[in-house]
Amino acid sequence: MPFGGPPAEAGTVYLVGGGPGDPGLVTLRGAQLLATATVIAHDRLSPPEPLTLRRDDAELINVGKQPARHALSQDEINDLLVVKAAAGEAVVRFKGGDPFVLARGSEEAQACAVAGIPFQVVPGITSGIAAPAYAGIPVTHRSVAPAFAVVTGHEDPSKGATQADYAALARFPGTLLLYMGMGRLGEIAAALVDAGRPATTPVALVEWGTTPRQRTVTATLADVADRARQVGLASPAIIVVGDVVALRDEIGWFEQRPLHGMSVLVPRTRHQASELSERLRTLGADPVEAPTIAIEPSRATEALRDAVASLVDGAYDWVVFTSSNGVDATWAHVEQLGGDARWFSRVRLGAVGSGTAEALWQRGLLADVVPERQTTRALAQALIAAASAAAPRALLPRADLATPTLTAELRDAGWDADDIEAYRTVAAAELPDGVAERIRDGGVDAVAFASSSTVRNLVDLLGGTPPPATRIVSIGPVTSQTCREVGMRVDAEAESHDIDGLVAAVVAATRTG
Ligand SMILES: C[S@@+](CC[C@H](N)C(=O)[O-])C[C@H]1O[C@@H](n2cnc3c(N)ncnc32)[C@H](O)[C@@H]1O
Repeated sequence: MPFGGPPAEAGTVYLVGGGPGDPGLVTLRGAQLLATATVIAHDRLSPPEPLTLRRDDAELINVGKQPARHALSQDEINDLLVVKAAAGEAVVRFKGGDPFVLARGSEEAQACAVAGIPFQVVPGITSGIAAPAYAGIPVTHRSVAPAFAVVTGHEDPSKGATQADYAALARFPGTLLLYMGMGRLGEIAAALVDAGRPATTPVALVEWGTTPRQRTVTATLADVADRARQVGLASPAIIVVGDVVALRDEIGWFEQRPLHGMSVLVPRTRHQASELSERLRTLGADPVEAPTIAIEPSRATEALRDAVASLVDGAYDWVVFTSSNGVDATWAHVEQLGGDARWFSRVRLGAVGSGTAEALWQRGLLADVVPERQTTRALAQALIAAASAAAPRALLPRADLATPTLTAELRDAGWDADDIEAYRTVAAAELPDGVAERIRDGGVDAVAFASSSTVRNLVDLLGGTPPPATRIVSIGPVTSQTCREVGMRVDAEAESHDIDGLVAAVVAATRTG
């Protein structure tokens, strides 16, 4: 981990701030410790995605509430950290936001100090600053607010003495950031007005800030409680009080992204899902990954190995790839045989799809032919047009279930095409936990299908098609046809049959909704 510092040490407790929710806001030090700890204690407000950095053998303990049992008390959490570290574990206590801002990280540090357990604190980005920033609200502004105050909204201001001094807060010359205040929103707003803040003071509520679920409501102290009730806004949320709220109209950005708040199912191979998910996430979507097919090595690897070995003898004029999986499988043989990119110096390369061309490029190989329309038919035509020899010899390392179109068209044109199984596509055994229910309950706004096999496999795994309100998006005509065959309406089809095209089609489909 660049700049992440040394790995987590046995016998030490690390109090790590996980930031407000966006996994990209975890610090490099925090990520390094998550990746090397042997025990990680997390809770409801610590972001879940960074936990996937953990070692395979790390023990993950949820100290927050779970359906089957209550949350651990603070004393129990303190004990757990001390006991685990004393037993020689490298312990990360992973917390939402910053561990020392309106959180009990300081009590956990005290417990370690008392027990003589070494500990370190890794600050995190606190939600009171980050959630407004993602809502387009700066907590200070040179001409609007010179200061901000971080306040707990946990206490009931109408019940006499509280630690938060509402008279002082009402006079405070800057922005107020109230955490944990949604349960007492009405009382808090009333207490500030009673103590002298104008009832017209702007207020923003930012719920689930920095996550795809982020929602922001703006109001005034006079009507904020009613507005929250109307919209159904609840905890976790930051209450922002002050004139900086108005800047949101000018510099709001996060919720304005084209797919903000949309959940998009990504039924792809485990291997390929991440690129599409990442692209969707950048546009604001909440990608739900559902691996429906898995790539397995071919059972008959000798044929491809022999073909690869014969490349150096000039046995082929062309090697034609129809997927990045084919590139991966072929390259694995090159490596096993002790070869490198020079083994391809006597052949020309064809590739369908920018992902396939990219997989070649990563191995130092530039594809000679990449058809504009990314179908196997277009590839066949482009190859035939580009061939200089009379009867070109071509190696086609493909999937076990690949359609015969490409090979047939090349052979019809006089090519000597060697179609060799490079890998197998098999159906996944089941959908990840909760995903089937989420799809059936309409909790997914769109499904992005990148191949016909994912269409069939998803319908099999689901035992039917998604509900009619779910937008169906397909990567190209063949996949669309399969969607229709299984009884689904296609809301958008990618114009370019690659990840870019699929992402653009998802945006188009959700706009017309
Ligand atoms: C116990 S405090 C923990 C604060 C945390 N230590 C921090 O620095 O952000 C919990 C409160 O933080 C706020 N909070 C945490 N995550 C949030 C998020 N993603 N969006 C809005 N508010 C959040 C809410 O006010 C919530 O009630």
